[in-house]
Parts: sequence; structure tokens; C-alpha cells
Amino acid sequence: MPALAPPRRPGETHSVPPAETAPQLLIATNNPGKVRELRRLLDGCGFDVLTPGDLSLALEVEETGTTYAENATLKARAFAAAAGILALADDSGIEVDALGGAPGVYSARYGGPGLDDAGRVQWLLHDLRGRPHPARGARYRAIVAVAEPAGGSGTVVTFEGVQEGYIACTPRGEGGFGYDPIFLVDPWRTQAELSPEEKDVLSHRGKAVRAARAYLRAQVR
Ligand code: IMP
Repeated sequence: MPALAPPRRPGETHSVPPAETAPQLLIATNNPGKVRELRRLLDGCGFDVLTPGDLSLALEVEETGTTYAENATLKARAFAAAAGILALADDSGIEVDALGGAPGVYSARYGGPGLDDAGRVQWLLHDLRGRPHPARGARYRAIVAVAEPAGGSGTVVTFEGVQEGYIACTPRGEGGFGYDPIFLVDPWRTQAELSPEEKDVLSHRGKAVRAARAYLRAQVR
């Protein structure tokens, strides 16, 4: 709340200005790893940042797109329409050179249904067995989409972030989620061995959200 100006004349009283409420922004994902990171990355963005859980919103959006941008837009639009507030979605994946850029947009479904994060990591290591260092080049890519609620302008804007690295031969580290235990950020450390703050500086998601924050700031004014 802004500081009260001193009374201008003796005997003059103040009227208390109305409390300022921040506009709301919904994180459009049910993935707990993404929720954790997006909450951190959106801290201080000028919005009151909410999760689907905060709104008791149970919504599964089928990812029918063939690009990150299509899927991020689908998710942001669906959550914005359901909640009636601005929504921010992330669609992301890992692209491995030796696999021609796969699994890419299908990273969450790599290896088929029934696998968890650890299972998908093992699947990728198996697909890369015998592949030497240069062929293990890889990158994470994230597209962040911000959608107006239905009844608003219907605008959706997207932002991209990319992080280059290599696929390790064995998983290491407890941080992050998904493929982080096998994503080498330098010759010594996997992404899962970084602190959350270090990951935010380097990650595809960190870069995409930092680009989105400039747009979000302009929406608050
Ligand atoms: P989607 O965006 O819901 O299609 O899921 C993206 C998938 O890519 C995740 O489920 C992970 O498997 C992988 N992924 C995306 N970002 C990261 C990350 O920061 N660390 C590890 N894996 C990630």
C-alpha cells in the first residue's frame, strides 16, 4: 500500500486509499516439476500467481499439436477459459542429435504409456547405448504461452527458451525432474546436480519465462 501523504492543513484528515489487489495469473500445468519452477520464475512478476490446485481446477488438456507452440497455446487457452483469468502454459521437451531431434515435443510420452520419469531416462539411455560423446549432443526447448481468458481479447503470445547440453551415460543428482539426471550442463554436472537457482539461470524454461515477464509487466500497468 502506498505511504500516506502528510496532512496538508491543520485538522485535515486522511481517507484510506482502497487496497490494491494484484491481477491473477494461473500456471496452466498439472506437472509438479513445472509448477515448482514456474512459481519461482514468476516470483515478483506483478501478478498473484495461482496453480490449478489453488482454484480446485481439475483440467487435463490433450496435447494434440505437433509443435511446442501449438500445445502451449492449447493448454494456456483451455486453462484461461476454465478459470476466467490470464493463464501461462509451458510446452517443452528434449531434442537429442543422435535421434534426429527426438523425442522433442513427444518427450513426456517417450517410451510409451506406463513409464515414469526414471523409466523414460532408462529408455533414452538404452536408445543411445554405444553412441559416443558428439552424438549425445542435446537441447531442452520450452515455449511459454500466455493466454487471455475467454471474453477478453483472445490474445495468445508465445516466448521461447533453449538450453544446450549433452546426454550423460548414467543418471546423477536429485534435483529438477524429467530428464535432468542425464542432462549434462557442463562436463562435470548434470542438471539434477544444480541448485534450483542455478537451474533457473541456465534452463530453457528460465529463459522463456524471463522473456514472458517483460510482456506480463506491460499487462499490469
Ligand atoms: P509437456 O510439456 O507436458 O509435453 O512435457 C514436457 C516433457 O519434457 C516433461 O514431461 C519432461 O519429460 C521433459 N522436460 C521438459 N522440461 C524439462 C526439464 O526442465 N527437465 C527435465 N525434463 C524436462
